[in-house]
Amino acid sequence: MAKTEVQTAKPSLESPLAMLAELTHRCPLQCPYCSNPTALSPRSDELNAAEWAKVLSQAAALGVLQVHLSGGEPTARKDLAEIIAAARKAGIYTNLITSGVLLSHKRLEQYQDAGLDHVQISIQDSDAENADHIGNYANGHARKLEAARMVRALGLPLTINAVVHRQNLDHLSEIIALADALDAQRLEIANVQYYGWALKNRTALMPTREQVERATAVATAAIEEYRGRMAIDYVVPDYYARRPKRCMDGWGSRYFAVSPRGLVLPCHAAETITGMAFSSVRDHSLEWIWRDDPAFNRFRGTGWMPEPCRSCAFKEKDLGGCRCQAFALTGDAAATDPVCEFSPRHEEVAALVAADSALIAPPGYLYRH
Ligand code: FES
Repeated sequence: MAKTEVQTAKPSLESPLAMLAELTHRCPLQCPYCSNPTALSPRSDELNAAEWAKVLSQAAALGVLQVHLSGGEPTARKDLAEIIAAARKAGIYTNLITSGVLLSHKRLEQYQDAGLDHVQISIQDSDAENADHIGNYANGHARKLEAARMVRALGLPLTINAVVHRQNLDHLSEIIALADALDAQRLEIANVQYYGWALKNRTALMPTREQVERATAVATAAIEEYRGRMAIDYVVPDYYARRPKRCMDGWGSRYFAVSPRGLVLPCHAAETITGMAFSSVRDHSLEWIWRDDPAFNRFRGTGWMPEPCRSCAFKEKDLGGCRCQAFALTGDAAATDPVCEFSPRHEEVAALVAADSALIAPPGYLYRH
């Protein structure tokens, strides 16, 4: 990481509220925007169920109220029910984030009996053929729909997550209608974030300005239309925004992630910032990591900020935007997020969007892991 001025005093510390437990990097799908790091942890390095139980108990003691059980594909683990039970024992609300393709009624019942509170299923598109192409998994879309119906039949609350990009954004109306037909209580429309795999595949995924404008109008109307029946989350994609997002609600502020081999990360994509070292739950307590790990304190609060952020009226609002994005676009995680219109490099983002969205990627052009 490039050298910048480093903060000298720690800002006041709040408790984390949520934890992302990345139980494995294994996954039957191969989405081109996968949030796994490009170097995957092997199964032999994964924390076992007893180690996860210890992490969950320490997380509860720190104040964590909610755990997102994710991956990779968390249902690829045979001991998932054991991990859910450990979270329940620790008094933490559990949300299973899954592709759904490995779920069966019996397994879902086991998870529910162990204490599972909520399920989030990702879909790749409303169009089955395109969805299976994006996920690189035959008949995956049909299995996801079946899984979503099983979730609702068991009375569990359901969120549908749809990652959107150039290859499916024109189907947004149909995606929204599909989530409603599946009786989802919430739909998250997540624009691709360009780090890791998505950064490698950016030219195939970057939507055009016209697509984004149409999709924003569709989402805005749908938020009103479905209000009271299905909550819809939608934000304009970063590269088309004028202001950066308040990423993670602030680095080391309310949230952390634990990787399959036990590294504790201030955000799920933090390993994309090369040159930063992260601590493991195998070597330190979660409490020490949350309070004292230099990686957690590096971008906490506002003291680390360079100009123009330091004198900016919005600095408490956006907390400097996204560190992973700043690193991906500038090579310096401490730089002003270039998505911000006040960044000296903002024009580069506009040029990059124009160049990427104009490219027509040849068929089959996708990096997969
Ligand atoms: Fe890592 Fe924004 S995704 S700080």
